[in-house]
Amino acid sequence: MGYQLGLIGHPISHSLSPWIHQQFLDLAELDGEYKLYEGSPDRLPQLLEELKAKKINGFNVTVPYKQVIVDYLDEIDPDAELLGAVNTVVYSNGKWKGYSTDGEGYVRSLIETFPNLLTNQTSVLLLGAGGAARGIYRALNGQGVAKVDIANRSKDKAEQLLSLRIDEVDSNVISYQQAEEQLAEYDLIIQTTSVGMKPNVEEQVIQLDNIRQDAVVSDIVYQPIMTQFLRDASMRGANIHHGHAMLLYQGELAFEKWTNKKLDVTHLVQKLENKLR
Ligand code: ATR
Repeated sequence: MGYQLGLIGHPISHSLSPWIHQQFLDLAELDGEYKLYEGSPDRLPQLLEELKAKKINGFNVTVPYKQVIVDYLDEIDPDAELLGAVNTVVYSNGKWKGYSTDGEGYVRSLIETFPNLLTNQTSVLLLGAGGAARGIYRALNGQGVAKVDIANRSKDKAEQLLSLRIDEVDSNVISYQQAEEQLAEYDLIIQTTSVGMKPNVEEQVIQLDNIRQDAVVSDIVYQPIMTQFLRDASMRGANIHHGHAMLLYQGELAFEKWTNKKLDVTHLVQKLENKLR
């Protein structure tokens, strides 16, 4: 029968995950299928029973299930527990176990392109404080970087991120205006808000006038692939990192948990980019 994999969420009909996981199955030379299971959160218990009956090996979780799924799992990975969100569930020996692969997937995608970027000297600016920002913030702390400042429209949400901090990392909540003023301090700037996403493609969360040319600017928005934010960074001579790579690597980490196969997916970054252009 092969591996039974899938995604739960709503809406998911346009998800790229079936395509991505088919690439992984082919690369690993494994039989299997990755299907979409769409439904509202009140259907969750019923959906989990259906997945059990189908002998599913595991599934991904997206909006609006990422937090609520936690209550239905038998075990939860400590990092996912800290984040209060799960994007990957493994079914094994009659038990559901939840993980979060977004943050680590993001860091992996970054290191693939910029292998020497993250050191104990690196200063990072994180823009946004939503679900995606939480995972990325946690994973960056784990990399032992020198500093991660957080700027977000609502200050409260940015302050909540600080509870995910690891002691050695210097971390401050600043305003978007402060971020613009002190932009030259940062080696890496990560855009995690939904600003600039289709259809609002002309929008940009902060201005980049003070950016250093050797800085890396990363945007997790991948529709469009070339956001206004990345275009601006590129015009100013900075290095850029596109959002779709994170999607690919968080998927690869999930695939690894389901199949115990570690894949080199570097070549798929370009293939996914071509699909999105
Ligand atoms: P995700 O899980 O994709 O991170 P989210 O948890 O809804 O989504 O978070 C959305 C992020 O985009 C937040 O940082 C949000 O800022 P607030 O916390 O202040 O709401 C940010 N965001 C969304 N629309 C925005 C806008 N028009 N201007 C500035 N920030 C925006």
